[in-house]
Formats: sequence, structure tokens, C-alpha cells
Amino acid sequence: MIKRAEPRILNPEPLVLAIETSCDETAVAFTKGYEVLSSQISSQVKVHECYGGVVPELASRKHVIALNFLLDKALKEAKVSLSDVDVIAITKGPGLVGALMVGMTAAKEIALVLEKPIVAVNHIEAHIFSIYKNKPTLKTPFLCLVVSGGHTMLVYVESLGKYRVLGETLDDAAGEAFDKVAKFLGYPYPGGPQIEKASIKGDEDKYDLPRPMIDSKDYRFSFSGLKTALIYKGRKLKEKGEGYKREDLAASFQKAVVEVLAYKAFKAAKEYEVKSLAVVGGVASNTYLREYFEKTAKKAGIEFILPEKNLSTDNAVMVGFAASYHYKNEDYSNLKETVSPNLRLPVTTASIK
Ligand SMILES: Nc1ncnc2c1ncn2[C@@H]1O[C@H](COP(=O)(O)OP(=O)(O)OP(=O)(O)O)[C@@H](O)[C@H]1O
Ligand SMILES: [Mg+2]
Repeated sequence: MIKRAEPRILNPEPLVLAIETSCDETAVAFTKGYEVLSSQISSQVKVHECYGGVVPELASRKHVIALNFLLDKALKEAKVSLSDVDVIAITKGPGLVGALMVGMTAAKEIALVLEKPIVAVNHIEAHIFSIYKNKPTLKTPFLCLVVSGGHTMLVYVESLGKYRVLGETLDDAAGEAFDKVAKFLGYPYPGGPQIEKASIKGDEDKYDLPRPMIDSKDYRFSFSGLKTALIYKGRKLKEKGEGYKREDLAASFQKAVVEVLAYKAFKAAKEYEVKSLAVVGGVASNTYLREYFEKTAKKAGIEFILPEKNLSTDNAVMVGFAASYHYKNEDYSNLKETVSPNLRLPVTTASIK
């Protein structure tokens, strides 16, 4: 009797080795579709803390040291071998040029040895993909507020890969404003988590800080004036001999930022008639913001989606998710790939409605 061969079960999801080195987190992940087999992150916070911000040259050097170590750990945790990998995902930009180049060079070396393609990923698009771990079934269109260290933008996600930026910050990004205010108040870098922690002990209604551009008819933001208003307030209180509890200033600032972000995001959600709103990027790990948006979404009858906290700040999982999507659309490249420190989110020019 002739034995029929078992039908081959094809897994359409590629095994992705993802690398992220755009700023001060070295990260390696193995992903398959929206499944995470391993996520390794090595933060350089301790290295840069004493300088009050990221020192690019130090960041590059630390990526070189951390990458091999993280790759070994990820291989062990994912229980895969390099020969199983279908595609190598790497952050192309935006980010620090030297830091990006460390990751890109490593990705190319691995691609060369394994003879596998590379998907060069836009870091901001990767942040948008971070929500798919929590919500793999999310349907487009949806609205996504990107709030990170370098970006603040409201994005209408018409379909994956098709984005329309409704508005972005004219000056400081929300995360950058958190970092600068924290520095003024004497908290270490990075300031966002410090402000969040301090705010718990502060009175958020103690100081009436401005809500910049809240009444503008568009979806642009501005946080530089808010930061300056806080600094002037603090200096004035000191000059007058009144002083201040820095927790109160921190809490008042956090409330002002979150109120502006939420007001504009929910206004846009209504105008563009989306059913779902997501917030991604480092500032999305802020508990006050998460709770404020959750409450507002409930009242507005809008589905609200957040990435897990450890996928809000930089990680390689989101890079793997974005790469998986592009790879399946046959959008990949080869060893000629380069970094792009000022890369913008690719946008569609088609009208929305
Ligand atoms: N709990 C928090 N509350 C407020 N801000 C936070 C919190 N945690 C992190 N942040 C801020 O998030 C920023 C880091 O986020 P992220 O890693 O996404 O930024 P980045 O990668 O440096 O910038 P970009 O993604 O725009 O290139 C920092 O400015 C940090 O202060
Ligand atoms: Mg980022």
C-alpha cells in the first residue's frame, strides 16, 4: 500500500529576528506574527543618567557591547536557532545615527551569513504596531496618538502601512517636556517616570498651568510654552520666598499635558468617526495618562487600546511586528540598506472620508 504523505502545514507567519538600537535601549526579540517568543532589553539609563541626557557616542558603544549578549539570551529563551530565522528586522530610523548604524551593521552581518532578507523598519511605525500584542484583532481604521521622547503626533491609521498625520508638536515632544521639567525640578534622567512617581504625592490642582493650543482648531500640539511657564512659576515662587513642593509642580504639569493630549485625541476620534483609539510611545506607560484616557474613552463609547507598559518604551518586539507585516507584503530589502536618522512616518496623501 502506498502511504500518502502528510499534507504540509504551512505557517504563514515568518520567524523574525528583530533588533532595535535607535537610542539608549538595546533590544533583541524573536516574534512570529503577533506572538512574542523572546524580548530582551538592555537599558542604558545608568550610563547616561549623570549627563542628564543621552550621550550619542556612549550609546553606540554600549549597543556594540550589549547586542551579542542579548541575542544569545533571546535565542535561548525563544528556543530557536539562527538557521530557523526567516527575516531580520532592523530599525532604520529615526534615531541617533551612530546607534542606528550599530544595529544595522549587525543585522546585515546576520543577513549575509544566513542569506535572509532584511526589513528596515520605521521606528514610529513600530511604536504603532506595539498595540498588536494586546489586541491582535484590531481593525483599521483607528486613531493612534504617538507620545514618545522625540515625537508627539496624532495619526489616522487608514490601514496598516497607510498613515495620515493629523497633527504633531510644533516644538518639544511630550516626553521631552517631561524630561526637561524633571531636570528643572532636580529629578534624574529620564524624567517621565520620575514626574509620574512624584505626582502621586503632589496636588495636581495646586498650580494653574496653561493648556497650550487646546483651543486651536487643528490637531497640532506645543509643549515648550508649558515647560517654560512651569519654570517661571517655580523661579518666581522661590524669588518671593514662598518656595514650592516640587511634587505639586510635577502633578500640575502631568495633569496639564494629559488633559491637552486627551482633549485633542478624543476630538479627532469624534471628527474622524473611529471606533478605536490607541496611545503608544514611552509616555503611554504613564499610569495617570492611562487611567485618564480609559475613563474618557468609556464616557465617549470608544474602544481604547494601550500597549503593555514594557512595549510602550523602546523594544524590539514592535520592530518585529512591523517587519512581519512588511515581509508578508514582500516589502523587504538587502545588504544595500542604510540608516536614516531623520526618517518620517510614511504618509498617504489620499483623502480620509
Ligand atoms: N511613566 C512615564 N511618564 C511620562 N513619560 C514617560 C514615562 N516613561 C517614559 N516616559 C518618557 O518617554 C520617553 C521615552 O520614550 P521612547 O522610548 O518611546 O522615546 P524615544 O524612542 O527616545 O523617542 P522616539 O520614539 O520619538 O524616537 C522619555 O521622554 C521618557 O521620559
Ligand atoms: Mg521610541
